[in-house]
Amino acid sequence: MSGSNPITEAAVAAVVADALKAIADAGDLAALRSIRQVTVGEQSEISKLNASLKTIDAEFKAAAGAIIGKARGEINAAFAAREVEFAAADERAKLSAETVDVTAVVTRVPFGARHPLSLLQDQISDVFIGMGWEIAEGPELEHEWFNFDALNFDADHPARAMQDTFFVEPVDSHLVLRTHTSPVQVRSLLSRELPVYVLCPGRVFRTDELDATHTPVFHQVEGLAIDKGLTMADLRGTLEHFARIMFGEEAKIRLRPSFFPFTEPSAELDVWHPGAKGGARWVEWGGCGMVNPNVLLAAGIDPEVYQGFAFGMGIERTLMFRNDVRDMHDMVEADVRFSQQFGVNL
Ligand code: PHE
Repeated sequence: MSGSNPITEAAVAAVVADALKAIADAGDLAALRSIRQVTVGEQSEISKLNASLKTIDAEFKAAAGAIIGKARGEINAAFAAREVEFAAADERAKLSAETVDVTAVVTRVPFGARHPLSLLQDQISDVFIGMGWEIAEGPELEHEWFNFDALNFDADHPARAMQDTFFVEPVDSHLVLRTHTSPVQVRSLLSRELPVYVLCPGRVFRTDELDATHTPVFHQVEGLAIDKGLTMADLRGTLEHFARIMFGEEAKIRLRPSFFPFTEPSAELDVWHPGAKGGARWVEWGGCGMVNPNVLLAAGIDPEVYQGFAFGMGIERTLMFRNDVRDMHDMVEADVRFSQQFGVNL
């Protein structure tokens, strides 16, 4: 047997060099994987040389096999090394893309917060809860009987027209959007055991246009105390205490004779506001009086045995002169900058 070995070291070295160059030229993992078949796989030159071992003379097989084996090892190792290198680079890129910068400025989505009016309403409620009073609520869509009749407004009483009422259709439903929180007085008297000491904050409605000092939807807080032997002095004392908590120790109140169908005698309530912008002064705050016996009778209570007082004031108005809010629009337009001035955190 004679002949020559077709698998020379030089030929194998050239194949190795080509494969190594292709591997080195692959720019990323995807590119490397796409040349797997032609560098280390079955379609590679080195595999073809390996396959050709079968056809060469037996005397050359061992030497040729050794050369090819070594070459294959070299190419496989280069491929594997490059693969590890790319995998590590990919991992690094992924980690850096997913890095959380704990020093970065966060963009907070504000949760929203309570409106200064609601906060004031709660503050007012707390003053009375502190005196042992209870909070009572009534419906905003109210029966005319509670809003007017039970409060001693006659059907053709001029006071009924005094309040600009939203009547609700159909008219014979006799439903109105309550024009004040006073109907809760009657509801409380009908549903509670005597004595009654309740505070009724809530939304009320009048056909006013929205302007700097009016809004068709606003809030009032009503107070009602019915017990044996209550007098105007109790009303005064209660209101003075309330005024001091709202406006400071130097606050005082004054009552001016007035008229409401559901109180007799009735008074307008003014408060001496020591912290008023532009100097201490008297401000009109609300209405009050001794509960009219007719209201007690409408609730089935004997006015000879029980008496009491009631008062009511606007919460918007209170916020306006307490915190120098000049324009009602600011309270209804829901601009967070308004609330933030009251220290409300968003
Ligand atoms: N309800 C009256 C109003 O809205 C205020 C008031 C309440 C007056 C209680 C006297 C007693 O004007």
